[in-house]
Amino acid sequence: MKKKGWRFKNKEIVYVKEILDTDISPVISMNEKLEKKFAKIHNQKYAITSNSGTSTLHQALYSVGVGHGDEVIIPSLTVAMCGFVVWQSGATPVYADVCPDTFLLDPEDVKKKITKKTKAILAVNLYGLMCDLTKLKSIAKKNNLYLIEDCAQCFLAFDNKNRVSGTVGDIGSWSFERSKHLSTGEGGILTTNNKKFAERMRKFGGVGFKNLTASTGKGKIDRAKFQNPKWIRHDTFSYNYRMSEILAAVGLAQVEKIKYFVKLRVSSGKKYHEFFSNLKTDIFIPQYVPKGFKHTYFTYPVIFNGKKYGISWKKFRDTFVKNGGDGIYAAWQTVNNETPFKQARKRGLYSGSMKISQSYGWGKTPRAESLQKKIMQFTTNQKNNHEIDFQIKAIKKTLKVLKLLNF
Ligand SMILES: Cc1ncc(COP(=O)(O)O)c(C=O)c1O
Repeated sequence: MKKKGWRFKNKEIVYVKEILDTDISPVISMNEKLEKKFAKIHNQKYAITSNSGTSTLHQALYSVGVGHGDEVIIPSLTVAMCGFVVWQSGATPVYADVCPDTFLLDPEDVKKKITKKTKAILAVNLYGLMCDLTKLKSIAKKNNLYLIEDCAQCFLAFDNKNRVSGTVGDIGSWSFERSKHLSTGEGGILTTNNKKFAERMRKFGGVGFKNLTASTGKGKIDRAKFQNPKWIRHDTFSYNYRMSEILAAVGLAQVEKIKYFVKLRVSSGKKYHEFFSNLKTDIFIPQYVPKGFKHTYFTYPVIFNGKKYGISWKKFRDTFVKNGGDGIYAAWQTVNNETPFKQARKRGLYSGSMKISQSYGWGKTPRAESLQKKIMQFTTNQKNNHEIDFQIKAIKKTLKVLKLLNF
């Protein structure tokens, strides 16, 4: 059955029409408008749009100089794209474990994984909750490393120092993929206060045009200059990661509603939290939210202990769906256990100057491996409280049908 959409209304259509009506003229530059708005909201000097939240990470790594022979520390419990971009930079992903209660990158394990080759830490603010960036930033500073925040799942979250997600590290990176707090279908954006990084990120994703600057992706050159066979256009080896003007028009309308979208997720997350934290059982253990942190719930994650009661993850999920549940996201395979990395290891492929099999030993992350099998992420992308109540009812029914709890 076709579900009626509610996310893209009014302004999205107005802005898309505006850009189409000009035959997609670069004079308006929806990208520039979107960048300015996003940078302002985050109180950052520069923002750079991109075609995905994977491309943005690649751009961020390039901008800080990650390259052949370097190592980048990433949590092993995250999306594989975090590992791919390190690999694509010619560097080696080194896996750090996660905290058992927040499921986020563990600063203590990060410390243990630092070597002479480490260049950067990729702090992934998953589920809508920020990592312990106070500790991670201090580790980065002490060891002369760059700190990049992956906020694909984390919009307008705050830590206990009232800092907004994406602004604590050197660079913040977001995804506008279909399922995210804000969406352009596919897309992404970066922010930074560092002019050099901003220019490098823009050129790396903007086919290396030499006229691109930290502040703008608009080609502001006199036509008489470049309509000349002598004109040299590029000064950087690069990719085309640009966001189309049509998607930027959608993105601008979405960013204008950022508070509304975040509020909806938070409201859903709070409803789940009230339900799960009042259950008198250890079947579910909700994620720990450190004091003073503001979670913005890309999903609502819990540890599922059903095995103890003879109920598998899959059995619970299938029964939940049968009872009207939306479905439950599992945690991703740990990055080192995803097929491309496993195969590379087996075949002895190199990333940068490092034989991948050599680096594997540094990637032992037992807590991540154990959590990976148990995490359940309930969806928070419903359009109102009524829909969330329906999800909670479906969880109650499931618990009853499986004879785990009675209501
Ligand atoms: C934590 C995280 N990082 C990066 C990405 C990649 O974003 P995109 O799908 O826009 O390439 C995602 C998307 O799922 C994500 O969840």
